[in-house]
Amino acid sequence: MDGFSYAIRNIVVEADRVEAQGTRVRYLNVGDPVAFGFQTPPHLIAAVERALRDGHNGYGPSAGLRVAREAVAEEFTSRGFRITADRTFITAGTSEAIDLALSAIVDEGQEVLVPRPTYPLYTAVIAKLGARARFYRCDPSRGWAPDLDELAASVTPATRAIVVVDPNNPTGASYSTAARRAIVEIAEQHGIVILADEVYGDLGYSGPVASIGSLEPDAAIVSFSSLSKAYLAPGWRTGWIGIGRSPRLDPVVGAVAKLADGRLCSTVPMQFAVAEALRGDRSHQATFRAALKERATITAERLGSIPGITCVAPVAGFYAMPQVDLPPGRTDEDYVLGLLRATGVLCVYGSGFGMRPEDGFLRIVFLASPDELRDIYDLIADFTAQYLDI
Ligand SMILES: Cc1ncc(COP(=O)(O)O)c(C=O)c1O
Repeated sequence: MDGFSYAIRNIVVEADRVEAQGTRVRYLNVGDPVAFGFQTPPHLIAAVERALRDGHNGYGPSAGLRVAREAVAEEFTSRGFRITADRTFITAGTSEAIDLALSAIVDEGQEVLVPRPTYPLYTAVIAKLGARARFYRCDPSRGWAPDLDELAASVTPATRAIVVVDPNNPTGASYSTAARRAIVEIAEQHGIVILADEVYGDLGYSGPVASIGSLEPDAAIVSFSSLSKAYLAPGWRTGWIGIGRSPRLDPVVGAVAKLADGRLCSTVPMQFAVAEALRGDRSHQATFRAALKERATITAERLGSIPGITCVAPVAGFYAMPQVDLPPGRTDEDYVLGLLRATGVLCVYGSGFGMRPEDGFLRIVFLASPDELRDIYDLIADFTAQYLDI
């Protein structure tokens, strides 16, 4: 268990302590839009309610309800990544999709290329499997683009997969088509699999972002997403995997099916919302994207104007990863805990995402209202001036 760590929740222990002492904590650690007042679309709630009342309260098929799997296959196919329903699985969120796919593909002692900063579940599951994460850098000075040279140079005979989180948590970046094509080429050249985390795919500020699988539908690509972010239902724990048509992935389909049998099925009533979400009205997404864009602009402007802080403007999703120019000897965790104790503002330190502690990165979830965000950034500005003594 030594390598299994999830900083986003770990830090809540300290927040509870701060709250018990009477300070109001502002939770900017977990990316849950519902916690900030964004509403689950009513037609999705109605679908689940109907399923509950119609008696769909027993176990379902391990791979997922046919209707949900067909909707997922149609969704991928309509985005240019042609997948058949028998190569889809309904899962307990993207999180279980990640666990199933890594467990199906990676053995003890093998390696997976993971972006730095990473989404921490990847490194945690890789550690649980006794495998090894090798990081490839994403570069803040180039809008957090992946370092393709480092990525290519990190492939070894033990490499099984490349994780690509696009649009990205924690950086708010989305990659250029050229970068995506280059990643697909590296993977194909070495016979490895791309694990494409596309849970923020509908949340690009200028519209949905293409699935990496649409660039090369014959490449060995496994894509994940869920109802959690773009459909505003993270508590339903409902997501999916789409496994590309490459014959190299045939054994992965079999392995995921076997693993899925072991956990019986994912939540059945919520699966009725999958078809409703993917085939029905998505107008809430345009409103949500506009709200995110406004918050991203405030975040980049306000944080970027604080002396000692730099911030790359996000282009998708609801995260930013600013950098504090720390004095020697200080760490990102010192700064984040200091900020929490002094102001009640709870962020996550960058080292929880694989960054070097002395580099001073932190991740902010900017789902709060614009007014509250402005207040929060004022608190951060005051605290930072004191902390850096400027
Ligand atoms: C990149 C990424 N992948 C996966 C997840 C997990 O999402 P889900 O709720 O679908 O399990 C998250 C949640 O924040 C995420 O940011």
